[in-house]
Amino acid sequence: MPEPILEVRDLVKHYPLTQGVLFKRQIGAVKAVDGVSFDLAAGETLGIVGESGCGKSTVAKMLVHLERPTAGRISYKGEDVTKLSGRALKAVRRNIQMVFQDPYTSLNPRMTVGDIIGEPYEIHPEVAPKGDRRRKVQELLDVVGLNPEYINRYPHQFSGGQRQRIGIARGLALRPEVIVADEPVSALDVSVQAQVVNLLERLQADFGLSYVFIAHDLSIVRHISDRVAVMYLGRVVETGTDAQIYEHPTHPYTQALLSAVPVPDPEARAHRDRILLSGDVPSPANPPSGCPFRTRCWKAESRCAAEVPPLAVPAAFPSGPAAHPSACHFAAERQVVPAPGELRPPPAPLTKE
Ligand SMILES: Nc1ncnc2c1ncn2[C@@H]1O[C@H](COP(=O)(O)OP(=O)(O)O)[C@@H](O)[C@H]1O
Ligand code: SF4
Ligand SMILES: [Mg+2]
Repeated sequence: MPEPILEVRDLVKHYPLTQGVLFKRQIGAVKAVDGVSFDLAAGETLGIVGESGCGKSTVAKMLVHLERPTAGRISYKGEDVTKLSGRALKAVRRNIQMVFQDPYTSLNPRMTVGDIIGEPYEIHPEVAPKGDRRRKVQELLDVVGLNPEYINRYPHQFSGGQRQRIGIARGLALRPEVIVADEPVSALDVSVQAQVVNLLERLQADFGLSYVFIAHDLSIVRHISDRVAVMYLGRVVETGTDAQIYEHPTHPYTQALLSAVPVPDPEARAHRDRILLSGDVPSPANPPSGCPFRTRCWKAESRCAAEVPPLAVPAAFPSGPAAHPSACHFAAERQVVPAPGELRPPPAPLTKE
């Protein structure tokens, strides 16, 4: 395997919880991200999935240097960027850009589309000299499927899907190698979601981009991801190729998430295994001992409270599609949604005339 473009190891972000106004005392910490590791290969899409509050945006912000990690390492092409500052950091930041979730609030309503998309050139004038910017911005509008003549319009004159295209154009302005897209389609109508996902796929093919694509459910991620990491309470609980995660999940949390995914095929839907999770996600300020999922897991035993399950290939599955990392002491395959075609009757045997 070629060297990954991004290598994330044991990434931690703890936000201090303080008490008092004048004399602030730290009384604890919100463990937003608590030891996350993954690789991103060049040209690949890694999907990160998990319920709201599990730490996805915090991971995204650390990847694009909007937040500093409490601990851990983020390597870009082999260099640890968490230690960089000044010019060296600026050069790396240019190559890792973010597309935000909400196209309604992430665009400044008082700026024209041209100024919004061209804003990154203020920080990196070397990419586009002043006289060249208008042309570059118009080219970007064209690349994301918008009319270049819209350059002087304001965000409110666009639909949600068009605004997300503007956000994507801004993300592309500096010609980055990695795009971190934090729930880029979650705020959009279902009909528009597919168009934006298709656009992202086309841009990836055209420009050789690598994506970290974040979503809160598994349905949208499947279309775009080569590999998927499932997060729960600040940790990755299962990771694998999309076929491994969707067809051979071994972690109870992934299985529960999958059982909630819409299934278009009515026959497959009828055979789907329904898993209803009880209880709420625990507070990241006070996570359970041992396995973070144990307060909602139907398989939990006393060992789950005592020992943190490592994210590793389960000993029970040394090979085959279930042989992918899963942080569960009792990892076991459970096919939640029948694979396409598996429900059809076998073809009739060929008979000689
Ligand atoms: N600046 C912050 N200060 C304190 N807690 C925060 C901060 N940002 C996020 N959190 C908390 O960290 C946890 C993870 O948040 P986030 O990364 O936004 O999750 P997600 O994107 O998966 O919904 C949540 O419990 C959230 O309330
Ligand atoms: S380690 Fe225990 S509590 Fe955690 S997911 Fe596995 S069975 Fe459930
Ligand atoms: Mg988020």
